[in-house]
Amino acid sequence: MKYDSYLELYKTKTFESMNLYFKSREIFPGGVSHNIRYFRPYPFFTRKARGKYLYDVDGNKYLDFWNGHWALILGHSPPRVTQKLVKQLKNGTLYGTVNKDSLKLGWEIKKAIPLAENIRFCSTGSEATMYATRLARSATGKRVIAKVEGGWHGFNTNLLQSVNYPYEVDEGLGLIEDEGHFVESLQFNDIERSLKVLESIKDDLAAIIVEPVLGGAGCILPKNGYLQGLQEFAKNNGSLFILDEIVTGFRFSYGAAMNNFNLEPDLFTLGKIIGGGLPIGAVCGKKEIMKLADATIEGDKSTYCSIGGGTFSANPMTMKAGFHTLRTLRNDRSIYDKINNLGEFTRIELSKLFDELKIRAEVTGIGSIFMIHFLNDNVKAINNALDAALSDKEMLNNYNLALMAYHGIFFLPGKMGAFSNAHEKKDSIKLLNATRDIFENSKYINFLEKNDKNLVF
Ligand SMILES: Cc1ncc(COP(=O)(O)O)c(C=O)c1O
Repeated sequence: MKYDSYLELYKTKTFESMNLYFKSREIFPGGVSHNIRYFRPYPFFTRKARGKYLYDVDGNKYLDFWNGHWALILGHSPPRVTQKLVKQLKNGTLYGTVNKDSLKLGWEIKKAIPLAENIRFCSTGSEATMYATRLARSATGKRVIAKVEGGWHGFNTNLLQSVNYPYEVDEGLGLIEDEGHFVESLQFNDIERSLKVLESIKDDLAAIIVEPVLGGAGCILPKNGYLQGLQEFAKNNGSLFILDEIVTGFRFSYGAAMNNFNLEPDLFTLGKIIGGGLPIGAVCGKKEIMKLADATIEGDKSTYCSIGGGTFSANPMTMKAGFHTLRTLRNDRSIYDKINNLGEFTRIELSKLFDELKIRAEVTGIGSIFMIHFLNDNVKAINNALDAALSDKEMLNNYNLALMAYHGIFFLPGKMGAFSNAHEKKDSIKLLNATRDIFENSKYINFLEKNDKNLVF
């Protein structure tokens, strides 16, 4: 077999996807509608998804560890949620008026996370973090938001800075330099450096926003005291502390990760899991801050914070899917034990395997989320987004493609994986066996040294 046989195999198995991808490029910039969904040589086209599997248009089946951007904690189309949605379809998908379903989902969240004293629903996580930013500026009268390097809070312009390495370079065209003056970056897990930066901007600091666990940047856990240190600074300074729990909310237990890390944010955002597979975002927090969003109070618009738009916000389909997803999780807490154990088992066994195979790697994660980082001479451990960015991404992408081509296992290349309730221990074992096969079997070994730059379209 040729050195790049995993790639040849992928192409042979996804011929129809390749044709569709060429056509897609005629319509969509880069052939996609979300940048990260593109991967080399081209992404397969999904035909359907059920439980733990994705099925592509070419007839391939993939064990899915991406789970719809980690949103699908019950797997694809879980029966209870699907039944409720089919019924709702016949009764209207978008009322455009207030409805009881939103109340039910709101109560469910409030009961699980007491700090959600008030909630505002929207349709994406990006809107939720934009709303949180605006609320923080309204509440404090200050302008600067501090975020961490590598922190991804969606596509909202306010926070589109220091997301991708190199962090000091703009995230692309269309961003106005002046906006950048109101965002400051901190280095995750370095409390001394972070406090120094915060000290230098404290007079105009409206809020610090941070994910409890860095998700998109590499599934990186906070060091003891880091998040608490940021929170303490914000509180002492009259600034807000905002937790972006869009990935972590309802991921590790029935509630938010703020419990795991003993935090009390002023505001926090939710998304993904609470939508039960449909589009959602939510900004939640203390009443005294959230009441700024109350546009029913008499007065002109200078008296409230305008964060209430969205044609599709609180639509009955999303509200039902979210409510029944949360109900399922609340009624069967063994789901969390199961998926957290799967995560733990997988992290431990993958680490052992890499040790045995003498491959320098670190497997990060917590609960049901995990990510493999291949280390190199520059990066010996993963403590922040920079470490993850400078680790051997080429090897990770190749490994992910080899998993797809040879073993029908799907991770979005370069991104962390998640377990859902549809997964079982045998899926973890399948991943371990596949990993061993890829690295141990000499017929594939050279792909780890090959750089396939010529495959970019
Ligand atoms: C931590 C975090 N915040 C915000 C967002 C944006 O959410 P959405 O893609 O729904 O706009 C994401 C998306 O992945 C996220 O991971």
